[in-house]
Amino acid sequence: MYPLYEVTPVSAKGIVVTDDKGQDYLDFYGGHAVISIGHSHPHYVNRLKDQLDKIGFYSNSIQNPLQVELARKLGEQSDCEQYNLFMCSSGAEANENALKMASFETGKARVIAFNNSFHGRTSAAVAATDNPKINAPINQQQKVTFLPFNDTEALTREIEKGDVCTVILEAVQGVGGLDEPSTEFYSTIETLCKKHKVILIADEVQSGFGRTGKFFGFQHHGITPDIITIAKGMGNGFPVGGVLIHEDIKASYGLLGTTFGGNHLACAASMAVLEVLEKEGLIENAKHMEGYFRSLAAAIPQIKRVKGRGLMLGLEFDFEVADLRKRLIHNQHLFTGGAKNKYVLRILPALNITKKDLDVFFEALKAEL
Ligand SMILES: Cc1ncc(COP(=O)(O)O)c(C=O)c1O
Repeated sequence: MYPLYEVTPVSAKGIVVTDDKGQDYLDFYGGHAVISIGHSHPHYVNRLKDQLDKIGFYSNSIQNPLQVELARKLGEQSDCEQYNLFMCSSGAEANENALKMASFETGKARVIAFNNSFHGRTSAAVAATDNPKINAPINQQQKVTFLPFNDTEALTREIEKGDVCTVILEAVQGVGGLDEPSTEFYSTIETLCKKHKVILIADEVQSGFGRTGKFFGFQHHGITPDIITIAKGMGNGFPVGGVLIHEDIKASYGLLGTTFGGNHLACAASMAVLEVLEKEGLIENAKHMEGYFRSLAAAIPQIKRVKGRGLMLGLEFDFEVADLRKRLIHNQHLFTGGAKNKYVLRILPALNITKKDLDVFFEALKAEL
């Protein structure tokens, strides 16, 4: 899948990842924004172990009260109680099902997505991803139109054609490089979607579960999507995803389905994440750490701009960062991330990092710069 770094992690705790030679690394990347409450958090480990001792899996043809418990808690904690939850096992699967729901609901097929978007690698999700290199001819049959953020005229023109089933967007772009639309554009999207009965999908696979300093990224802009997709931080490493579908969209048997989605272990992993986020006040911590991060970044002249929100952050330089990332791993023992925008270094740590961790990060960064 990717060219590999010469590091072999064998254990991890909090933000420390230890390799097979006993070398510790500080994880400021969370394995692509997946580690939300820290590696091997004790509550998470115990909850999964307990669940495994009871029952790990059964199919979706039986009652599973854990799914109900999780849906309730997720609804309450995220302030999205008017949504139903469908569970699956990855971000791409969440978006694939969301796109399918939008098409079922509207009877239409064209998707509007945005430049530099990333929604996953399955059929419709990859077609809505702005990267021709990962779109095979079989995916190119989908009808997708890519637009720039904040271009109201183009969006209006496309939606008024009457064949659009959905507008899908990441609240803060992850892989693309931390860009986001303005609040004004968000509300334009919402208004146009309502007026023309187009389903608005918020892809919160990366930005959800508190990463941006609110439970969901779109909540910074005060809109109400029809569908919200989740994964990554939802399971802190356990493969779990979900689609929150507004109750105005009526469910019927058989529209969506999955074998593994919503299994007992996945529910336990996700419950543990929600419990730790709440008990340890991690969403507030993400917000506070952003402020501290920005104040330290402001003192480094090579940093042109700090992008993103909460602990979904990017440092923009006037040079490509691939070599800097390598040096941070090998010389400073720090994991960071890259983006499609090659000038952006992505920082996606667990939401319980401290000021001290950020001090270490910036000292290491200064040494390499
Ligand atoms: C915003 C967004 N959507 C969807 C996906 C796809 O998720 P997965 O890799 O779990 O299929 C990603 C993965 O990076 C993502 O960042």
